[in-house]
Amino acid sequence: VPSNSSSEPGFARDVFVLPRAPGGSDAVYLAGNSLGAQPRPAREALVSAVDEQWAAVGVAGWEECGWWATPQRLGDRVGALVGAAPGQIVVGDSTSVQLFGALIAAARLRPGRTVLLSDAGHFPTDRYLATSVARLTGLTLATAAPDAMAPDAEVAVVAVPAVDFRTGERWDLATITERAHAAGAVVVADLSHAAGVMPVGLDALGVDLAVGCTYKYLNGGPGAPAFAYVAARHHDRLDPPLTGWTGHADPFGMTEAWTPAPGVGRLRVGTPPMLSMLALDGALGVFDDVDLADVRAASLALGDAFLSGLPDAVDVVTPHQHDRRGGHVAVRVPDAGGLCAALARRGVVVDARPPDLLRFGFAAPYVTLDDAATAARELAALL
Ligand SMILES: Cc1ncc(COP(=O)(O)O)c(C=O)c1O
Repeated sequence: VPSNSSSEPGFARDVFVLPRAPGGSDAVYLAGNSLGAQPRPAREALVSAVDEQWAAVGVAGWEECGWWATPQRLGDRVGALVGAAPGQIVVGDSTSVQLFGALIAAARLRPGRTVLLSDAGHFPTDRYLATSVARLTGLTLATAAPDAMAPDAEVAVVAVPAVDFRTGERWDLATITERAHAAGAVVVADLSHAAGVMPVGLDALGVDLAVGCTYKYLNGGPGAPAFAYVAARHHDRLDPPLTGWTGHADPFGMTEAWTPAPGVGRLRVGTPPMLSMLALDGALGVFDDVDLADVRAASLALGDAFLSGLPDAVDVVTPHQHDRRGGHVAVRVPDAGGLCAALARRGVVVDARPPDLLRFGFAAPYVTLDDAATAARELAALL
């Protein structure tokens, strides 16, 4: 449990193990927008799951260790971080799989409509899946930038990210949701670049469905299971496409036909990946008793420190205004891949996105103001 105030950048630094820089010291780890660093409690939970649960208890662990209930239990823990009241989130599968289910379930909430409207610059998996979902459901795929979306009465579903994965621009989910609802459409939000780095307020915004990664700012580990949210008002009519046995009302009844579990539990598909789930369970402890508004303020302070350390000539593509940016800052550079590798040799871990962007992620639990200043200084020196 972090000892420092959560409004202070690096407030849980001691709780994390960071990758090593070439000289042997801790790296300046600014890749938390891609894969969060390792919280010690994640490792402890994983070791305990292997030794004290799987090895010692075996199959009885599904009941005795509470494994079976974990997708919803973790869903509620994630819900507390994205502004969702209990009972509306399940954890499991990949973000891509969750997105497929969410888009189809959303389309089925609006029968008779003809259009799936998606962000033109959405993350590739969101765009590829929207294309396939449109084919499967008979909808026509239309695209627009989130702030230019003007849905009409033909639009069934509006699919948007909370934060642009490339530029780090934060979209105005409140206005997008308001416009979608005014047209009678439902909103599917991808929170991958928002969960754990800023308050989202899903219930308050009125978003209908949402998905997100847990391996970025929630630090669940490589390939940690994703989450899916469905607002309680839709549960009774929710008709998911992936009708796996664990989403059945009576999974061990082994009945002939699929009967949906009550509520969001029907989004469960197959056997939950318990080791990854329990690592995530441990990782989420970083956020116990932490106010996401503080985490957001600390993350913005880190971004500001980075931006103010850059020479004016650097082409920053992320908006400077606090309310228009997410957790990472992106700069346009001539050789993003080469610079990314050169920064890594100097102990600064970031990532590159083709063709020309470098992304610097400001995960406040373990990134300090010194880290942000170092990153700006090293980038400036290399440029
Ligand atoms: C917006 C967004 N959605 C989805 C994903 C990844 O999906 P998956 O967890 O299925 O690999 C990412 C990964 O970076 C992402 O940025």
